[in-house]
Amino acid sequence: MRPCLPVLLLRLALLVLACRAWSPSGGDPCPPACRCLDSRTVDCRGRGLPRVPSPFPLDARQLLAAGNAIREIPADFFLLHHDLAYLDFRNNSLERLAGGAFRGSGSLVYLDLSYNNLSRLDAGAFQAAPKLAKLSLGHNRLARVDAGAFRHLEQLQVLELHDNRLRTLSAAALEALPNLRALRLDGNPWRCDCDFAGLFRWLEENQAKLQGGLSEIQCTVPVEEITVFLSELTEASFRDCKFSLSLTDLIIIIFSGVAVSIAAIASSFLLALLVNCFQRCAPSKDDDEDDDDE
Ligand SMILES: *[C@@H]1O[C@H](CO)[C@@H](O)[C@H](O)[C@H]1NC(C)=O
Ligand SMILES: *[C@@H]1O[C@H](CO)[C@@H](O)[C@H](O)[C@H]1NC(C)=O
Repeated sequence: MRPCLPVLLLRLALLVLACRAWSPSGGDPCPPACRCLDSRTVDCRGRGLPRVPSPFPLDARQLLAAGNAIREIPADFFLLHHDLAYLDFRNNSLERLAGGAFRGSGSLVYLDLSYNNLSRLDAGAFQAAPKLAKLSLGHNRLARVDAGAFRHLEQLQVLELHDNRLRTLSAAALEALPNLRALRLDGNPWRCDCDFAGLFRWLEENQAKLQGGLSEIQCTVPVEEITVFLSELTEASFRDCKFSLSLTDLIIIIFSGVAVSIAAIASSFLLALLVNCFQRCAPSKDDDEDDDDE
């Protein structure tokens, strides 16, 4: 069988060549609009791309896609590219983050979504990315950030929410971040009304996390419509809020009162019924005797 060896070797060589031509970097080839600096860094910055370039190498760790016109993160994006650790989507046209947009993003450490058009963050928006260390959301149009928006981000150290349209934010959203050490909230039209009291207390306790302390954030006092620096306020500024109840609170209190009364009436009715039933059904001595007579 000696003559076969060279033929075998040749076939093997051809196979290897074919494989390499088909997949130059252990995955898909570099997309035409981008440059692949090495097999793990895909650079598509400032190419006017309307969507995420596809396909690109499956084992990419860094995708630089800043300065394009990308409108969404495709649903299966991280499922295909689960090695992505560094994602720069700065200065694109993202308007919303779909519920499952980050599914499979377990390697993601750095995410820059600044200079986009995001208007809200829903609960658990980033929960599939528990390794995130830096999240940039500055210069969007965020007006609503859910109290659960940052849950499961236990590694997050840097959070940027500056230059958005936030008037209020639940302190619970920030309390969910045990490793946070730098936060930006400046450049938002904060309202220092009663809803703000909880956030103010949190900020006072955590002002070391703000680069410029409380004096880098301004808020507008509702009735007077004057704008002040947070450093000019104290807990006492929110003193009148402590015991005030919102309409929702009142409705809940009235409703639960009514519910308790109904439950009390219903249970006494049932009890009466039960007692009545026992009295009727328990065979009394007279009945027994009657039965015996018959
Ligand atoms: C956004 O990207 C466009 C196109 O690449 C560029 O002209 C513009 O300067 C960028 N803006 C910012 C704020 O980075
Ligand atoms: C953001 O949205 C506004 C209003 O819908 C639009 O005028 C603007 O062009 C958008 N910006 C980007 C970068 O897509």
